[in-house]
Amino acid sequence: ELYKQEIAAAEATNADMVEAFRIKYLGTKGLVKSVMGEMKNVPNDQKKAFGQILNDFKLFAENKFEILKQSIDDSQQSTANSIDLSLPGSPVSVGTRHPLSIVRNQIVSIFKRLGFAVSEGPEIEDDWHNFGAMNLPEDHPARDMQDTFYISQNPAWLLRTHTSSVQARVMEHQKPPIRVICPGRVYRNETISARAHCFFHQVEGLYIDENVSFADLKQTLYFFVQEMFGKEVKVRFRPSYFPFTEPSAEMDISCLICDSKGCNVCKHTGWVEILGSGMVHPKVLENFGIDSNKYTGFAFGMGVERICQLKYQVNDLRLYSQNDVRFLKQFTGAI
Ligand code: PHE
Repeated sequence: ELYKQEIAAAEATNADMVEAFRIKYLGTKGLVKSVMGEMKNVPNDQKKAFGQILNDFKLFAENKFEILKQSIDDSQQSTANSIDLSLPGSPVSVGTRHPLSIVRNQIVSIFKRLGFAVSEGPEIEDDWHNFGAMNLPEDHPARDMQDTFYISQNPAWLLRTHTSSVQARVMEHQKPPIRVICPGRVYRNETISARAHCFFHQVEGLYIDENVSFADLKQTLYFFVQEMFGKEVKVRFRPSYFPFTEPSAEMDISCLICDSKGCNVCKHTGWVEILGSGMVHPKVLENFGIDSNKYTGFAFGMGVERICQLKYQVNDLRLYSQNDVRFLKQFTGAI
């Protein structure tokens, strides 16, 4: 029994060890043979029982020998067939980030460095957050500026036409100082073409505190543009009108993709409008109980598609939503 235990525990990691096992237990001078030799000393009446035990032991040892031999063969086999670890791995193809996500992330990261937090709001809005709170009372002609998709009339639910609705949601819950940007998708009832789409993306900005001035607005946006497009880019502000800002301005940047063949982005004016902006209208502040004598603020809303167009020379807005992999895979590796 003791030897059996010893045999059962025996291990072999190479052919020499298997051979040593064979010699020790099964060889001509091995244990099995020498115990066999003891047979002649066993009394006759016990020979049968002893013989059985011996035979059992011999089979046990032979069996173990086969197992050890097999395990060595197997491991040699698998070493022979094993993979070549020096070969380069087969490439795993990963998807690409959508260009609009890439650009949105860049915009967000620039404003985060200036201390802006990120807020988001719903794409399905009520009339108050999209229009009323933003100083566009009912029948205000400026409502026609943005052709709206209505989901229901009474009460009015609609697809938000701008991310300014998120300004309203932020001011509802936060007291100044407020410094947020709000990226999101917006909808307008427009005929789809290379230059217009029924949905697109904006990043809204809102900064309210004591003593916020138009100079802060200009400098913030100027910083943004230089971070986004480089130091060479030129900027111009044009007076404009939005019901929720006073004064208001649109900002253009010098067209970066214009060449002699013609440019369908700036139409050869050399300038591209990228955002609307202005000082938050006192009425908007008062709508949310913010004292407009104490606080001032600026706001802006920029088009992500337009910025992406300039950054990556995309010349047709429809490309963004057609999911054509030939277009999308050009952004491989961009993050
Ligand atoms: N909401 C305006 C638009 O969609 C952009 C804007 C935002 C203008 C904030 C001024 C201030 O055109």
